[in-house]
Amino acid sequence: MKFSPLHPSLGALVEDVDCNDDFLDQADSLKTALAKWQLLLFRDQDLSDSAFLEFCRNFGTLELLPEPEKRHPEFPEIFNLSNVKPDGSLTHHDDPQAVFLRGTSRWHTDSSFRTIPCLATILYAVTIPPQGGDTEFANMIAAFEGLSENDKAKLATLKAVHSYAYSRSTNPGELEKMSEEELTQVPNVVHPVVRQQTDGRASIYLGGHVSHLDGHDVVASRAQVRDWEEQFTALENIYRHQWRQGDVLIWDNRSTLHRLTGYEIDKYARVMRRCTVAGYEHVVGSSSS
Ligand code: OGA
Ligand code: MN
Repeated sequence: MKFSPLHPSLGALVEDVDCNDDFLDQADSLKTALAKWQLLLFRDQDLSDSAFLEFCRNFGTLELLPEPEKRHPEFPEIFNLSNVKPDGSLTHHDDPQAVFLRGTSRWHTDSSFRTIPCLATILYAVTIPPQGGDTEFANMIAAFEGLSENDKAKLATLKAVHSYAYSRSTNPGELEKMSEEELTQVPNVVHPVVRQQTDGRASIYLGGHVSHLDGHDVVASRAQVRDWEEQFTALENIYRHQWRQGDVLIWDNRSTLHRLTGYEIDKYARVMRRCTVAGYEHVVGSSSS
């Protein structure tokens, strides 16, 4: 496998790989490369659904996402990220499905509202709009490393409250209603603002599921967190991915934020197969720089 940087800050193109191949002996190298580069791109892939699933399993155990209606009928670990309805028509801009998809346009890291958040997300591009619909990825290790020693030390003392109820309430429109009982299954969780990576580096762990800082005034600390997100997603920390059909892209949710950039959601189809690699550890904070 050959890794070439996609951007000065993060991401590598992995060349000479057919994701249909057997990676039994190389799964550890793939996992190490993901932690190192934070994002890996495999271009021009041609994968059946079962081959995509097999490839994703090299990175760890896969999550089953909560919404059964979006699961692949045969392979429930595959989530259909799509603005196309079962009858082939496109979702309307304000349909709950489109609101959910447009909600990913805010900087976030996937499932940070869980006690043990996911490790990585993998998308396989099936249908790409002719314009728009890029995805941006921001390097949160670089964001941390760019801070002064004082700020590093200060942030390392803080914890953030990640709340699914909060991030749902800030979606750009009405989602399907969730019952009180469903909401009680996703209680607020607290994670350190500075996260320790397995390779010893540290990153900032915030994003759209963060409601506020634990133990701080909700309104003031929420505003502070949103300011930081803007500061930490400075242009030099961002790789913007322009999708091509056949791309397989995996990003490390432990050390990056991402967001969808706009496209005409009721005009162009955008279809991705998605798998989510489960995390296996509690988020551990860092007091070192
Ligand atoms: C996601 C996500 C963005 C995109 O699948 O978690 O944020 O560009 N997707 O589809
Ligand atoms: Mn996401």
